[in-house]
Amino acid sequence: MQTKQVQEQKRSSSTFKNIIWIIIGVFVAYNIKLYINRSSLAQFEIRGNEIIMENKGLNLQDFQLSSLSRVLSQNPQTTKLNAQLSLNYINDFRNFFVSLEKLKDLNELSLSLGNNPIINELEQANLLSQALSKLTKLETLILGLDSIFNNDSRETIIKGLSKISRLNTLRVSLINCDLSGNGLKSLYPLTELQNLKSLELILVGSKLKEEEMKHLQTILHKLPKLTKLNLNLYANKIQIDGAITLRDGLFQQRQLKEFEIDLYFNNITTNGTESLMGVVGSMENLTQLNLGLEFNYIKNEGGILVGKALSQLKNLKDLSVNAATKNFGWEGYEAIVSAIERLPPLESLELIIGVNKCGLPGAELLKQTLFKHDKLKSLKINFLENYVGDAGATYIAEGIQYQKNLQILSVNMNFNSLSDRGALELARAVKNAKSPKIVDFRVSQNQITDKGIKDVFLLLEKALPKVDLLEVELLNTALTNATRDDIELKYGKVDKLQIRLNTIPPSNWE
Ligand SMILES: *[C@@H]1O[C@H](CO)[C@@H](O)[C@H](O)[C@H]1NC(C)=O
Ligand SMILES: *[C@@H]1O[C@H](CO)[C@@H](O)[C@H](O)[C@H]1NC(C)=O
Ligand SMILES: *[C@@H]1O[C@H](CO)[C@@H](O)[C@H](O)[C@H]1NC(C)=O
Ligand SMILES: *[C@@H]1O[C@H](CO)[C@@H](O)[C@H](O)[C@H]1NC(C)=O
Ligand SMILES: *[C@@H]1O[C@H](CO)[C@@H](O)[C@H](O)[C@H]1NC(C)=O
Repeated sequence: MQTKQVQEQKRSSSTFKNIIWIIIGVFVAYNIKLYINRSSLAQFEIRGNEIIMENKGLNLQDFQLSSLSRVLSQNPQTTKLNAQLSLNYINDFRNFFVSLEKLKDLNELSLSLGNNPIINELEQANLLSQALSKLTKLETLILGLDSIFNNDSRETIIKGLSKISRLNTLRVSLINCDLSGNGLKSLYPLTELQNLKSLELILVGSKLKEEEMKHLQTILHKLPKLTKLNLNLYANKIQIDGAITLRDGLFQQRQLKEFEIDLYFNNITTNGTESLMGVVGSMENLTQLNLGLEFNYIKNEGGILVGKALSQLKNLKDLSVNAATKNFGWEGYEAIVSAIERLPPLESLELIIGVNKCGLPGAELLKQTLFKHDKLKSLKINFLENYVGDAGATYIAEGIQYQKNLQILSVNMNFNSLSDRGALELARAVKNAKSPKIVDFRVSQNQITDKGIKDVFLLLEKALPKVDLLEVELLNTALTNATRDDIELKYGKVDKLQIRLNTIPPSNWE
């Protein structure tokens, strides 16, 4: 067996690779922990009863997969497997699935197969289905099937995993799978998972429109009562009617504690927002909410409806709202940010609320809101393209500086018509904030001069002793080459500091 593989290898590769291959064979045979960084070889690592196979995008072929299949066969005691095999040149996973089936003690599985040129797909789907159905101790499954398998094959796989009666946590990723028409029916067997508590469906670019939402509604009706649900519907064509249908499905899951919905790049408009926010507002026990409504033409009226729903959620601890959109003005902004202001203190807040005309009062309102939420451990503000100027930046800086418990801080003030003064206020807030370990600070596309940028770094430098990582982005400012070189010389090799600088003038300063 070993010799045969070595021969196969000889035909397709160099002598140097052969030597490496033989060494691997020896390691595998003796079941020794190893970690190889050569991109042309299948990688794996064994830590106790856990196996990690990080092989995404390594151009692996079938013969390289067989070494991984062997690792599975030789470690039947494995309880946790993380196999990242997407974006390779694998045609045939059959042996891998047969080996997977033998891991009877597996409790946690993350298996990513997407974007491989598989052949005889129904046969492969049958073997995967069979393997999954035999993993009776599995409680957590993360399955990546992006861009592979047709409806029938997918249904076969989902049927198999639906037999794992202990499964309580499931994530299925179907990015770029065509689920139009009756495609989503392939997920119906999921409703047999009566112990399911947490479900994530990643249906990005899956060609979903109004009609298809009926299938999602059916699934949401028939699933057991979940505590966590994530529906990622990014880049589909869901409009008002689809949002209404979805609302009816979500109504059966009002008990959710964690809810994440991403509708970025659909078109639910104000009316669709009304439906969706109607049900979100009724999820009174939510502690975590992620709402992605960017690029949905929700308008000011939509913003008001989002605000109304948020104001009903008194148990929230962790909130992320993405309502950045072009046709969105002060009223929508005010409704959302005021609603957040009135919530009991949050632990985590992400506000992606750029590209709207909130003006200076918008920045002041955000400051007031941050004063009310002074227990934040994580604060992420994306104020991209709001053009609030130095005075606006000063308000936001005050809000940040008021924080006492931060661990993570991210501030994106790109395209905000800042001069040196505004940038310095923000840098001072980063220096004074207590006491984030991870900071991402962006003030690109603003008219900041050489002197301003040097002073910004003098302030940020003082934050370094207390942080683990400080990322700074200053692209498209008024920086000149000479000062850029000075900064790169002085800070380029500082461990915790990651700087992105250029000397290209900005595309527009308002
Ligand atoms: C299955 O998927 C195709 C695209 O691959 C889709 O066009 C079709 O409507 C689906 N077929 C059925 C029967 O659901
Ligand atoms: C929220 O929790 C309470 C207490 O457990 C429960 O009575 C109520 O029905 C829950 N609300 C929803 C919408 O499920
Ligand atoms: C979005 O939906 C509205 C209302 O249904 C419609 O008038 C508009 O043309 C749609 N826009 C796009 C880009 O699909
Ligand atoms: C949106 O809802 C309003 C009433 O709430 C209605 O008058 C209007 O026709 C609806 N628009 C669309 C495109 O359905
Ligand atoms: C500045 O540096 C860039 C390369 O980073 C170079 O292309 C450009 O010509 C320089 N500009 C001046 C004015 O020297």
